[in-house]
Amino acid sequence: MAKKIRTTILVGAQWGDEGKGKVIDILTEDVDFVVRYQGGNNAGHTVVIGDDKYVLHLIPSGILHEGKQCVIGNGVVVDPLALLEEISFLKEKGIDAGKRLKVSDRAHVIFPYHRKLDELREVRKKGRIGTTKRGIGPCYADKVSRVGIRMADLFDEAYFRERLKLNIDEKNAILKNLYGVPGFSVEVIFDEYRRYAASLKNFVCDTNELINKALSDGRSILFEGAQGTFLDVDYGTYPYVTSSNSTAGGACTGAGIGPSRIDRVLGVVKAYTTRVGEGPFPTEFNESMMDKIRKKGNEFGSTTGRARRCGWFDAVLVRNSVIINGIDSVIITKLDVLDDEKKIKICIGYRYKGKKYVTFPAIPGFLENCVPLYEEHPGWMEQTSDVTSYGDLPLAARKYIQRIGELAGCGVMLVSVGKSRDQTMACGKKV
Ligand code: GDP
Ligand code: IMO
Ligand code: MG
Repeated sequence: MAKKIRTTILVGAQWGDEGKGKVIDILTEDVDFVVRYQGGNNAGHTVVIGDDKYVLHLIPSGILHEGKQCVIGNGVVVDPLALLEEISFLKEKGIDAGKRLKVSDRAHVIFPYHRKLDELREVRKKGRIGTTKRGIGPCYADKVSRVGIRMADLFDEAYFRERLKLNIDEKNAILKNLYGVPGFSVEVIFDEYRRYAASLKNFVCDTNELINKALSDGRSILFEGAQGTFLDVDYGTYPYVTSSNSTAGGACTGAGIGPSRIDRVLGVVKAYTTRVGEGPFPTEFNESMMDKIRKKGNEFGSTTGRARRCGWFDAVLVRNSVIINGIDSVIITKLDVLDDEKKIKICIGYRYKGKKYVTFPAIPGFLENCVPLYEEHPGWMEQTSDVTSYGDLPLAARKYIQRIGELAGCGVMLVSVGKSRDQTMACGKKV
């Protein structure tokens, strides 16, 4: 008998914005808990239900389902103001997060000086990453430097003030002397964050205990990844990455669950590729194709509104992603965006300095200078957004899906052909 799946990690297998929000919303139906384990409000996960569109940044996308418990794990960095705003936004939509959300007492807190430092680094001419300017990198840097402040720390008045002063003294020296901008006041931030802490008090708890108790009670859990594999600080296109482990391993450290408790890893991939911000992108389209797909796929950032860069599906990256994350199956989204293409390319290797590669080495400048090697597939030239069953997809579309699975080296579980829940179908094994 097949083992019952109780724990699933869902990751983005490209550079983020693969459609994780939509997929999580669908998978939430079958689980008891949805847990975010890394990143912060740099994420933007879109869920469309009927005429309503929800863009969630910090709160797990499972929040839209009544009766499901959502958790922001210890590996997440929390901007309390952003969190309170998101809670209010949901309240306006009739969703009471108070009953369904818990926040780890070990999660690190984003402060205004983190956002300021992030912004100041981004206006430099050299070394820009193209971040979301939400203070994510500086907050994780403080965590690893062992000067960070955790949610639990906000509730101990004396300890919090002492830690804050230590941080602000150091940050103000950098802000004033290196960047020539004014610093921050300890007392102003202290008062502000004590107010946030009071508003968030009932949400904060030991979520590791909560999650592990849920597991021993036989409950099922979906771990919701943010960003994507190639934005992972270890495995991504460093330095053009985010500052956390968005890969599956991050779920263990970022939520406090042992690796032996994970039953399944799923990866979300777009039928093509996008990325936001700076960094190499071998299969990036030329201008006219970029324009067309960006418009058709509405490829504008859910968090910053920036135009996303678009390109052909890169099977080398996705294969790498399947290996690093241990992905069992992929979910292919946005197939409908390719409906009007006569010819569709898939990158199956790179040529670099006369040599062929089917992997992604860490050589500096490799991805910037390699030449992608493509195979070409006939398009289907038919609308797919109304199709509800895999067998009814055009043959060329099914062949394209099967080829993605083959090159990725794993099964294809679902195919998505539109924003709504019902524009999703289970994938048949055979073309
Ligand atoms: P996430 O960050 O991975 O959750 O993805 P985003 O929400 O940032 O971006 C994905 C966008 O694609 C959202 O606007 C979704 O509503 C939309 N989307 C998801 N799946 C599909 C699909 O199959 N077809 C189309 N056309 N849009 C989709
Ligand atoms: P979701 O969860 C796409 C990108 C930024 C930048 C880099 C570092 O919606 O897929 P950061 O602010 O994290 O320090 O920025 O990472 N980035 C994302 N790109 N989707 C995201 O999240 C992203 N979160 C961060 O554009 O290139
Ligand atoms: Mg997104």
